[in-house]
Amino acid sequence: MTTPVLITLDGNTALRDGLLAQTGFSAGDCEWRHFPDGESYVRVHGDCSSQDVVIQCGLQHPDRIAMPLMFCVDTLRELGARSVGLIAPYLAYMRQDHRFHNGEALSARLFARFLSAHIDWLVTVDPHLHRYQDLAEIYSIPCATLSAMPLLAQWIKREVARPLLIGPDSESAQWVKAVAAVVESPYTVLSKTRHGDRDVEVSVPDIDEWRGYTPVLIDDIISTGHTLLEAVAHLRRAEFPPAVCIAVHGLFADHTDMKLHSAGVARVVTTNSIMHASNAVDLSSVIAQGAVRFLTQPQT
Ligand code: R5P
Repeated sequence: MTTPVLITLDGNTALRDGLLAQTGFSAGDCEWRHFPDGESYVRVHGDCSSQDVVIQCGLQHPDRIAMPLMFCVDTLRELGARSVGLIAPYLAYMRQDHRFHNGEALSARLFARFLSAHIDWLVTVDPHLHRYQDLAEIYSIPCATLSAMPLLAQWIKREVARPLLIGPDSESAQWVKAVAAVVESPYTVLSKTRHGDRDVEVSVPDIDEWRGYTPVLIDDIISTGHTLLEAVAHLRRAEFPPAVCIAVHGLFADHTDMKLHSAGVARVVTTNSIMHASNAVDLSSVIAQGAVRFLTQPQT
């Protein structure tokens, strides 16, 4: 088997360097940009004929990157690539998993259909699986769903004294419980009602018995940050010490990182699924193993 080629479209050089070091893939190159009118320009450099190509492309700005990604994949095939897989550490559109109002696009399913039509396999990290239990329900290609939670648990164990783990909503119960078992700490789960994109209401159960613990809020995604900001406000009113906020994917829409710091959090920590100053947990070894498995073992 020739060495697979890794093409990085998302500019996440920290993750790319880790992947190259841990897989032995060779670095490929694809240039892309938007023309002044918004159309996409894509050019694959080098010879990828008969090669297995792996594209690293976080989908945190999905509408901006979807067209260049599709042009890149289809161009690689026209140029003779043997297979094209996708590493998308952050998988977009997973939260639109339900038609909340008549006529709404069921975007999770439609985006899955779009990606499945172009790539051969997908590796991703902690996709927002809520109403779907498994990506196989909406993706028709082989998918590896990896988790950063064991790494986050190690980080907490190392860095936080007497943590009280807090999941901000019922969806987070699945990972908060698992992380708490590794950290050997107490945990609780809040309940959240979302009224709009930037309007969430969080209620906190009685946490008086854990006074003196450091609250560690743990979520899969920080987007507008309203989920965490609401929870942090409750904890401050209850006179808990400043919270540590941890998430796998830091999207930080609306300068959320600054808002969290102004709200008095002790620290914001994310993985390098999306490049950001808060990255403290490296996913490259987990993702490298997932990608290598696809290329070395036959998939169903
Ligand atoms: C949704 O349930 C997720 O697990 C996150 O809690 C949510 O996406 C965070 O969004 P935001 O930062 O906009 O409140």
